[in-house]
Amino acid sequence: MIKRVWLFIMGLVFSSAILIAGECISYTKKGNQVIFNCKDGSKLLLTINSSSVVKIWFDQSGKFIRSNESFAVVNENLENVGEINVNDEPACYEIFTSKLRIRLNKDPMQLQIFDKWQKLVFSDFKEKGHESDSKSVKAYKVLRSDEQFFGLGEKTGPLNRRGRSYKMWNSDRPCYSVTEDPLAKSIPFFMSSYRYGIFLDNTYKTEFKFGTESEEYYSFEAPDGAFIYYFIFGKDYKDIQEQYIALTGKPIMPPKWALGFAQSRGLYTKEAQALDVAAEFRKRQIPCDIIYQDIGWTQYLQDFEWRKGNYTNPKEMLKTLKGQGFKMIVSQDPVVSQANKKQWHEADKLGYFVKDVRNGKSYDMPWPWGGNCGVVDFTLPGVADWWGKYQQKPMDDGISGFWTDMGEPAWSNEEDIDRLNMKHHIGMHDEIHNVYGLTWDRVVKEQFDKRNPNRRIFQMTRSAYAGLQRYTFGWTNDSGNGNDVLEGWGQLENQVAVGISAGLGGIPFWTTDISGYCGDITDYKAMGELYTRWMQFGIFCPLSRAHHEGDNAVEPWMFGDVVEKNSKAAIELKYQLFPYLYTYSRKAHDTGLPITRGLFMEYPNDAEAVKIDNQFIFGEEILVAPVLKKGERIKRVYLPDGEWIDFNDKKTVYLGGQTVAYRAPLGVIPIFVKKGSIIPMMPVMQYIHEKKDYPLSVHIFPNYEDESASFELYEDDGENLDYLKDIYSKTKFVCTTQSGGYATTIAPENKGFTQSDKRNIVLKYHLEEKPDTVSVEGKAIQNVEEGLILDKQESDFTSLEWSWNETTKECWVKIPDRRKSVNIILK
Ligand code: NOJ
Repeated sequence: MIKRVWLFIMGLVFSSAILIAGECISYTKKGNQVIFNCKDGSKLLLTINSSSVVKIWFDQSGKFIRSNESFAVVNENLENVGEINVNDEPACYEIFTSKLRIRLNKDPMQLQIFDKWQKLVFSDFKEKGHESDSKSVKAYKVLRSDEQFFGLGEKTGPLNRRGRSYKMWNSDRPCYSVTEDPLAKSIPFFMSSYRYGIFLDNTYKTEFKFGTESEEYYSFEAPDGAFIYYFIFGKDYKDIQEQYIALTGKPIMPPKWALGFAQSRGLYTKEAQALDVAAEFRKRQIPCDIIYQDIGWTQYLQDFEWRKGNYTNPKEMLKTLKGQGFKMIVSQDPVVSQANKKQWHEADKLGYFVKDVRNGKSYDMPWPWGGNCGVVDFTLPGVADWWGKYQQKPMDDGISGFWTDMGEPAWSNEEDIDRLNMKHHIGMHDEIHNVYGLTWDRVVKEQFDKRNPNRRIFQMTRSAYAGLQRYTFGWTNDSGNGNDVLEGWGQLENQVAVGISAGLGGIPFWTTDISGYCGDITDYKAMGELYTRWMQFGIFCPLSRAHHEGDNAVEPWMFGDVVEKNSKAAIELKYQLFPYLYTYSRKAHDTGLPITRGLFMEYPNDAEAVKIDNQFIFGEEILVAPVLKKGERIKRVYLPDGEWIDFNDKKTVYLGGQTVAYRAPLGVIPIFVKKGSIIPMMPVMQYIHEKKDYPLSVHIFPNYEDESASFELYEDDGENLDYLKDIYSKTKFVCTTQSGGYATTIAPENKGFTQSDKRNIVLKYHLEEKPDTVSVEGKAIQNVEEGLILDKQESDFTSLEWSWNETTKECWVKIPDRRKSVNIILK
């Protein structure tokens, strides 16, 4: 049956022909692929990528031609599923995998996917699963009354996307509002509470409507290009996300220092200023690893030359910074200004700019600074080395990485339709727009790798497409504070969800601009509270960068003593948690799972938890509920099922499954640890690599009797690529609660890396009562004052001692780390 429906909308003379894929009459199959043929000529191609992933390609013309290979997917062969069988039943075709039953009803064509227990997971909506007209192809899917959706990468709005529509069109609107859409990145991947994810791998301006048109269906659509989407079935959100990462590639592994604190400003563009700021951090003993330089560091866009007058001896500056433990990251824009005559002519002659389709010349791109520009065409193979050579110049001077900004390319929002005249080497701008940034990020990464062997890249980008995690970290662009910079509270709260959602888009390493980017700060005293609370949230963003527009200084000491004290404490906590954060960073590299996670991901069956957008789980053990409201001192915190220990005093325990009122004066961040957790920490350092030899504090929050708490610490060199050769070390801590005591094992796995041979492990048990005895390897060890352990922990690598502190209820056990298994018994 072919249905041609002519819609006459409200008497309009114009009509548009909507073609709904009709009766499916036959199929052909080869290996793991099946093509279903419809009477009207349209076809549906299914590729069984694994027992739980199905690639679905609907093509109205039946030709299956795509203009470019996927920019996102790097591995489709997730599992060898062998030759698939198609059962030809009277009313349907059926394919079985070990996890799924895939059914295609014949008339009308309707795709349905069930789990192996016959539960419907995903279904075309009635007969209109795939519909096309002259403007777009749309997929309508059944929407269940309780279905929830999460994902789409960095987007505003509640984490549950239901009841909202979203577009993908990389947009650089500065100072975006809390409801703005689209934003700068396009990651067309979302997950449903019905245990599946959809990745619509189409780079055009796609749209998603999560039940905004109907309570019965939701839809996604693309105006052009191959209509390809991947269905991913999983046992939970994490399982789905890991499979998305298997398709689109692992996130880059950050150098350790990338996880330290970073300071920036729009007009950080001067040598003396960089040195002054760096010295001030060290003088005030506020930990910091990175000083950024914004785009004004260049003489011209984008010559990678230090601006004359602003920098007199950049190499010397970088040497000094290095000596103080700082790295410098510099900005790059993807354009060459016409004012930069030599480089512009060079690129123009080589044909390296995106062309104007109307005249075949280099497109004349207005740019917010530096005059009109040529837009570098990173889809042209020859460009990579050319750019790589330029980019290497500051690397050779001693910088440590790049901040790739403006990759929309900027000033091409939806209304800037003239940009659609841009012709890239591999396609017109409507197809390339959303991947432009990604193609640039790829060149930056590949050229970095080629010219800086055995070094981990630092790249932080604004604008890209799904798969960007293979090349870069992200930040959430110019968050706005409205007309009044002091009114940025709504945006602060918004950034929590935007960041969590970035993680769902496969970007575990991200930051927001701490302080909010937009608005001149004229009253620093009045801004102090917002800055403090943003910092307290910001230290839990895996990368933590304070940044603000123009010459608005947002260093922690700008806002007065109290703000400085509280900001410093927050930053110090970030450093103390580094061993924990780095372990989760390695996990994020391996799996793509976010580090800063929405509660829905850890507690999908807790109906209250899935509604929470403004708290998060940091790793898996720590819950953070940052204060996000002006004047708020009593924070209402939802604690999911379980028991939660107040991380700020470690003695108070809250029962989960309830909202608690928590006292949070300006210096306090509401942080809770799940009962039965182990959290490794290190001493405060002024920068991540300050000391190689340091005592490892391992906080143990024991589990219930007969149950264990465990943590496997990951450590490696932190800067080189040894981890790719499996050179690292792991240390597994397991503490089992027994009747009348605790049995702990420390089990190292040494794979060619040792953090330090001068290291004590100080187990810090959080208990109700003092133990009578502590023995290590069956031998009782000496009970001493806590102060003695403090004194000896950095100098005595032979003795074993334990202490009890009645005030904090902590039992410390100092054990030299000899990279051997150890058993510890507390009784
Ligand atoms: C836009 C970026 O989003 C912002 O962070 C930066 O300061 C300006 N470009 C200037 O480079």
